[in-house]
Amino acid sequence: MERIIITGALGQLGREFIKFFNKNNTYVLATDIRSPLEDLSCDFEIADAMDEKRIDFLIKKHNINVVYHLVAVLSANGERNPFMAWEINMKSFQNIISLSINNGIKKIFWPSSIAVFGTKSNLSFAAQDSILNPETIYGISKLAGERLVNYYNKKFDLDIRSLRYPGIISFDTKPGGGTTDYIIEMIQSLKNGKDYTCFLNRNTELPMLYINDAVKGTIDYMSVDKQNLKVKDSYNITGFSITPNKLEKKLIELGCNAKVIYKSDFRQDIADTWPKKIDDSSAINDWNWKFEYGLKETLNVVFK
Ligand SMILES: NC(=O)c1ccc[n+]([C@@H]2O[C@H](COP(=O)([O-])OP(=O)(O)OC[C@H]3O[C@@H](n4cnc5c(N)ncnc54)[C@H](O)[C@@H]3O)[C@@H](O)[C@H]2O)c1
Repeated sequence: MERIIITGALGQLGREFIKFFNKNNTYVLATDIRSPLEDLSCDFEIADAMDEKRIDFLIKKHNINVVYHLVAVLSANGERNPFMAWEINMKSFQNIISLSINNGIKKIFWPSSIAVFGTKSNLSFAAQDSILNPETIYGISKLAGERLVNYYNKKFDLDIRSLRYPGIISFDTKPGGGTTDYIIEMIQSLKNGKDYTCFLNRNTELPMLYINDAVKGTIDYMSVDKQNLKVKDSYNITGFSITPNKLEKKLIELGCNAKVIYKSDFRQDIADTWPKKIDDSSAINDWNWKFEYGLKETLNVVFK
């Protein structure tokens, strides 16, 4: 029986993983540096993932045998304080690996991101095996993490798995300071009749994935036989790609009556180094990855 600890459990992804595990009667211990504002219907403990002793205590106390390590400082927040972003992203990752080895935990999920790509990748359609030259501290930390996933899996016979998520879209949980956050903000603003100032240029195309597909895809991937997984660092997965302008037009078609003002900021520089589309054929071939929510299905969630 799996007994799962989630670090960074109160973030955009963590909350949705909690709901999934609760629904499937899988034991989950949610941990975060802040307290939940509502009932999570699972065990919760305050824990800083930088605090190795505290996490060690909780792993032992709750007989944990699987880790979902979701703590990260995301792309836009990372650029505001790169030293802190590197410290948190890498030290928490290292802590989790060393604690897993010491506690006999083999199975770990750690998300990577499309931020690992860079201007040397083919940004029109980024291949699984692209040249990776990330230009943000977030992307650099994700690339370092990917190399460590490969290294630690061999060195310690661990089963650390990783997916390169594109921008994740969710409506119940707020995004945590990334470059793709505009999509959720624009949908919610226009739906509520409020003008929205978009921090990306109108034609900036980026890949996105609806949260249900992200969670289901991750769970499917985590349950595949390890022998089938040819990619040893992190799999590309994606849903649909979109520009702010295309989204704005779609929202107007759906009856929204508010304007989008385009005023790009430093996040445009980040987006310019990220792929427009990514090739997820390795995930499709190796473990039957598929998404169900295109743009239409995603918007149907809020425009019923
Ligand atoms: N959301 C996306 O669009 C996206 C895309 C690609 C990859 N990812 C990756 O998925 C993972 C989860 O992302 P998210 O969007 O849920 O992030 P988020 O920012 O919404 O949540 C992160 C959570 O970690 C907590 N946290 C921060 N520092 C901590 C610490 N030291 N100890 C314990 N908890 C701490 C925060 O309180 C927060 O609840 C991250 O690794 C991220 O890089 C997310």
